[in-house]
Order: sequence, then C-alpha cells, then structure tokens
Amino acid sequence: MSSTLKNDRYLKALLKEPVDCTPVWMMRQAGRYLPEYRELRAQAGDFMSLCKNPELACEVTLQPLRRFDLDAAILFSDILTIPDALGLGLYFSTGEGPCFERPIQNTADINKLAVFDPEIELGYVMDAVRTIRTALAGQVPLIGFSGSPWTLATYMIEGGSSKAFTKIKKMCYSDPDALHKLLDLLADCVIVYLNAQIKAGAQSVMIFDTWGGVLSQSCYLEFSLRYMQKIVDGLIQSHENRIVPVTLFTKNGGQWLSHIAATGCHAVGIDWTTELDTARAQIGSQVSLQGNMDPSVLYAPKERIESEVQRLLAQYGKGTGHIFNLGHGIHLDVNPEHAKIFIDAVHTYSKPYHLP
Ligand code: CP3
Repeated sequence: MSSTLKNDRYLKALLKEPVDCTPVWMMRQAGRYLPEYRELRAQAGDFMSLCKNPELACEVTLQPLRRFDLDAAILFSDILTIPDALGLGLYFSTGEGPCFERPIQNTADINKLAVFDPEIELGYVMDAVRTIRTALAGQVPLIGFSGSPWTLATYMIEGGSSKAFTKIKKMCYSDPDALHKLLDLLADCVIVYLNAQIKAGAQSVMIFDTWGGVLSQSCYLEFSLRYMQKIVDGLIQSHENRIVPVTLFTKNGGQWLSHIAATGCHAVGIDWTTELDTARAQIGSQVSLQGNMDPSVLYAPKERIESEVQRLLAQYGKGTGHIFNLGHGIHLDVNPEHAKIFIDAVHTYSKPYHLP
C-alpha cells in the first residue's frame, strides 16, 4: 500500500506541523444532504446495506470529495456497528433512528458479551477501509472512527436514541459495577476495532463521545473519559512510518477540555458552545483543536457563511493546530452549494494565518 499523500494538511495540522492553509472536513460529510447519496441509498434499500457493502461504502465516502475540496475522507459506517457485532441486532426504523432488537436489560446480558475479532465480525468495515484507501490513491488521508464506550452504552442500554438517558443514568448510581464492566468491555472492543481499522489503512482515528456531555463532571470522568483514556493508551501509535493521530470529541464537553487533553490524544473536538480562543488558551499548547462552526450557519446566505468562517479563523489566530470542522454533523436539509462556500472560504481566508 502506497503511503504517499498528495494532501497531508489534515495530518500535519493534527501534529501541529506547519501547513499552507487550514485543513477542513465536515462531520457527516457523506450523507442525506447529498442527492447522489439519497439516490444510492434508495437503490441499496437501507443504510446498513450501504455500510455492509464495501464498494457502496467506498462510493459514498468519495461522493463529497468529488464535489468539495475536502482535506480528509471519513470512512462511511456507523458507531453502532460495535453493538451490532456484540449481538444486539441493530436496525434503523424510519423516523425513529437506530434501534436494537436485544438491548442490554440486566447484568446477565452484560456477562454474556465478549470481545470479537474485528476482522471476522466487522470484516465488512475493514474491507470498506481497504477499498477506500485504494480508491483514494493518496488524494487525502482516511479517518477511521468509533463511538466512545459511554456513547455506545447509552444506545445499548436505552435501546436506541434517547433524550433523558434515564436507564443508563440510573445505572450510574444503582449498579455502577455492572456499568463499569460493560464500559470496560466496550473499551476493549473499541481498541481492537480501531487498531484493525488502522492496520487496514485508516491514517487517523476519531472517537465520537456524542453523549458524554449529559453527565456531571464526576460521572464524566468516571464513566466516559476513563474509558477513552484506556483506548488512547491501547491504540497503535504509528503505522506505515507515520504517527496515527487520535481525536477525542465530547459534544458539550467544553468545561472538561484540560481533562480531555491530558489523555495524550493529539486533537480535541469542540462544538460551537465553546470558543476557539478560550480552548486554544487552555489546551492549545498540548493538542490541536477541531471545530467548531455551528452547522446551522450553513443555512445562511453566502456572505454570512464567509464572515463566520473569517470570525472563527481570527479567533483561533495564527499558526497551525486547527482543523476546521462543524461543531457537529451537517444538517440533512443543507444546500450542498453552501457546504462548498464554507469549505472554499476556509482555504481562501486562512492563508494569511499560515504565513511565516
Ligand atoms: O461523518 C461521516 O460522514 C461518516 C459516517 C458516519 C455516520 N454516522 C453515518 C450515518 C459517522 C461518523 C457516524 C457516527 C454516528 N452515528 C454518531 C456519532 C456522531 C454524531 O452524529 O454525534 C452517532 C451518535 C451515530 C448513531 C446514529 N447513526 C444515529 C443517531 C443515526 C440516525 C440519524 C438520523 O438522523 O436519522 C444514524 C444513522 C446514520 N449514520 C446515517 C448516516 C449517513 C443516516 C442514515 C440514513 O438514513 O441514510
């Protein structure tokens, strides 16, 4: 596998090496806001059929790269492949989002779970990674990803998406030992899963802790960050003669930045409720920052999108260490032309910030 990259801005910024302009990609950059995605999904039948077919997963990964000047590709898959591989029976029902046929209901259910072999149980993901790496031919780096143990556990225990997280939060206080057992197993699963993605060709990895921000600080440290720390410690550090940078993203985790940076990760994702200058002042000497434009800005007219990009670039200030992104996934009714305006604006207006 060739490891020559035509565009390595994203990897360089993650490692705080100088770049010519600020790299940019978008969370959920492949997906329903793109008509070509909707067309392919209609042909495939459903979302998981796209994920389980390496050629289709590759095609969907590349779709946004054909339209936009993105600095990274992200594997097309889902965080819920892990609970599916653990036997919970993942399905997506229209309007309801993800659901499990067999959610975790008691300690006995947790005791039955065992770490899988990712090349067997999640072989379709590794095949997708290999197919995408070959198809990218060094155009841009490929990001692999996983959910955090806490975020995966919320879906496994609530049985799907949740707003109040009553079952899992009850468990934090009524049966913390059982919850720790589950989170520890999930951390082991994430380690083997991400290491397999790295061996298959992922050049950086990101951990999505979408729901860590619903916890109190002490519960966040105990039930979420502790297991992300275990993962950071267990990941392959370099592959193909390159460091494999790790990004941790706790949505609504702005009050815990110094704790997150202390894990030894390379980058911390922030959402729009945290200011880039505050975050840089706090942890910018230790890690790079990824973020943080409110995805709703993409509903604005061209001039407003461009002025918001300029404001955020000025807020981060001069030098490397910033990966421009949205603060969460792109909304599904965004006009793709607006995404293009956003991406081009990042490249155009960031150049002066990278002059020596
Ligand atoms: O970013 C990318 O382009 C890569 C692909 C990706 C998807 N999901 C594809 C997807 C990634 C990185 C994810 C991560 C993911 N999945 C997260 C963490 C990030 C975040 O958004 O907070 C979470 C919590 C999930 C779980 C999940 N998967 C939900 C809640 C849903 C339903 C969302 C909805 O709006 O219906 C999914 C389905 C899903 N994952 C879709 C896509 C493109 C939509 C599937 C479809 O209907 O075509």
